Amino acid sequence: MKNTEIFTKGEVNELSSCRTGKFYYDVVCGLNAKPKYLSSMYFYDANGDKLFQDLMNCDEYYPTNCELEIFAEKTAEICKAIMGDGDAFDLIELGAGDATKSTYLLQYLLTQGANFSYLPIDISSNVISYLNITLPVTLPGLQITGLNGEYFDMLKKAASISKKRKVVMFLGSNIGNMPVDVAEQFSMDLRNHLSPGDMVLIGVDLKKNPQTVLAAYNDKEGITKRFNLNLLERMNRELNADFDVTEFEHYPTYDPETGACKSYLISLKDQDVNINGMETIHFEKDEYIFMEISQKFTIQQIDQMAAKAAFKPVEHFFDNKHWFTDAIWVAE
Ligand code: AVI
Repeated sequence: MKNTEIFTKGEVNELSSCRTGKFYYDVVCGLNAKPKYLSSMYFYDANGDKLFQDLMNCDEYYPTNCELEIFAEKTAEICKAIMGDGDAFDLIELGAGDATKSTYLLQYLLTQGANFSYLPIDISSNVISYLNITLPVTLPGLQITGLNGEYFDMLKKAASISKKRKVVMFLGSNIGNMPVDVAEQFSMDLRNHLSPGDMVLIGVDLKKNPQTVLAAYNDKEGITKRFNLNLLERMNRELNADFDVTEFEHYPTYDPETGACKSYLISLKDQDVNINGMETIHFEKDEYIFMEISQKFTIQQIDQMAAKAAFKPVEHFFDNKHWFTDAIWVAE
């Protein structure tokens, strides 16, 4: 069903103008679509953030530890690559979170006397206030300007604040949460916000033994399951929906051919769910909601994605198991 059949143009404008309205609009569109889908960007309310933290500490979820290992053990090499000729630069981080990984680089760059400013970008104002306050204390001498907003809006703002060379970090394999064509478009949009010589440091999860990948999205403790079901609970909390989460089952899949790891929620019975007394969504028994893609790549695919977006792929930093890479791309 097209969005226009659910909402009038006036309703779309009204709903899009506020955060809850946008959330309501997106979920109603997704749950009226065939097949049904929800956007994984809505996983991250306060409960979702906490569940994601738990997930990063569980045995099976390897990407965070792999990337932490790269930042801890390859700090000097990464810094050498991003420092270039020693000219001044802005180190920008898209979706900075608590900046745990980047802190390794920031610390090292400060000890090297590098001439740089750190500009974390995050959609959460809490994250930005936290970083603006805590990082100058833990890293004395750090020049920091936190930017709260959408990635590309804030990249434009960063370019207006300073004309220095830009090094943009996009870590954690967040690029994998986009379908491949969207990830390619994102890389092109990123390139269009940069100038020749600017750099990207991008963290990407690699294809590996399918059992290892699948286990990371199907942990024994059931944290990933709760992480997915939390989105239904979030709709109950924020949109006055009446999902019975015990009637939905977490179903992760991994296709080693395409590298697509996908999560679904399966309806365990025929059921109707009401959202805010306005919208009734019918689920057939065994019908699925597509929840998330966590795409895995080969090195060749990553290099091709860079080249397609007019970046030169120049270097890869790997963890010891070669499960994850942080790649350096230079804008041509
Ligand atoms: C944030 N993102 C890169 C995570 C991933 O691996 O796709 C989100 C996640 N979903 C389930 N587990 C972790």
